[in-house]
Amino acid sequence: MNRRASTAGGPVPLLDLQAQFAAHREELLEALLSVVTSQRFIMGEAVGALEEAIAPYCGTSHAIACASGTDALLLSVKALGLEPGDEVVTTPFTFFATAGAIVNGGGRPVFVDVEPETLNIDPAAVEAALTSRTRALVPVHLFGQMAAMESLGRLSAARDLAVIEDAAQAIGARRRMEGDWVRAGAVGTTGAFSFFPSKNLGGWGDGGMVVTDSAALAEQLRLLRTHGGAKQYHHDVVGTNSRLDTLQAAVLGVKLRYLEEWNAARRAHAAAYTEAFADVDAVRPLAVDPRNEPVFHQYTVRVERRDALRDHLRGRQIGCAVYYPKPLHLQPCFADLGYRTGQFPVAERATTEVLSLPIYPELPVRHRDCVIATIREFYA
Ligand SMILES: Cc1ncc(COP(=O)(O)O)c(C=O)c1O
Repeated sequence: MNRRASTAGGPVPLLDLQAQFAAHREELLEALLSVVTSQRFIMGEAVGALEEAIAPYCGTSHAIACASGTDALLLSVKALGLEPGDEVVTTPFTFFATAGAIVNGGGRPVFVDVEPETLNIDPAAVEAALTSRTRALVPVHLFGQMAAMESLGRLSAARDLAVIEDAAQAIGARRRMEGDWVRAGAVGTTGAFSFFPSKNLGGWGDGGMVVTDSAALAEQLRLLRTHGGAKQYHHDVVGTNSRLDTLQAAVLGVKLRYLEEWNAARRAHAAAYTEAFADVDAVRPLAVDPRNEPVFHQYTVRVERRDALRDHLRGRQIGCAVYYPKPLHLQPCFADLGYRTGQFPVAERATTEVLSLPIYPELPVRHRDCVIATIREFYA
């Protein structure tokens, strides 16, 4: 890094989707045109093709495309057939959809604290929260790093609990488990992905996917995404309309070819940031568990005087964001669950310390250097 890089070098956007579009414009437009030419917009060929590509990529037997990451979670929860009062244990330090899907799917969210190093759900806290009503766990692979799936797997196996991996931020992430690399989404009962445009594999609109090894669940999920009917005008269960748009599937099918390369580029940016902050005590990057190969959907640091640094960066036109400013157990919509401030100190403290910095595969090195120099200067 050029330690004397200009700190007046903004604007540095948090994310620039134009760069990826420019690099792959022709093949993306060609894929769209082939859908338009076919005029098969609902469950066209590209949807099945994407499912057939994602399943082996993740190492699962089945992939079921749907309308969003939120729906990938919701359909997964609905497929469990929860009874009123059934509990689902999850993290309070995540995007709202994780817990929203539990409630909308008929479950009662039970929040537990996160690990201080990774901010992923803490298996010891999960264990302490299990009751006779617990039916499922929803770990989130936060910012693209997988949660402690072997510990959660042991807990779920002992009590016959379902595990829904919220892998919305983690497509392509891997973890070494019993000597083998296993992809995000392939460990639990189901794994849920989001193709929101800013995600590592992002469409040109909303989109999602559920992966699973269970043929029975795959069938149930396919039913649920089309109003619960395998045959037209015959409905076995009450589902919904949550199909992946064929135009989105076409875009995603092209982009999937580059995902490994893009994730590697994100890791390289992350490594450069981490090295550059090694001697800045006020800046502590989230730890990477040595069993993990993350995909850095976000590059997140914990810092002193977070809000002042955020304002300083923004003043220099450098993009940054706080994911997440308020933990879910303190959200007004969950007041009836009875949680209080102070109950999950690790997650609560994280909301005051975290800051996510610009990271995407095409991030220009000069932008990265500008971010680093500006932060170093702030703490100098
Ligand atoms: C952790 C997590 N879960 C779920 C979702 C929901 O995905 P979507 O926006 O595609 O509905 C997101 C995406 O924003 C997410 O980050």
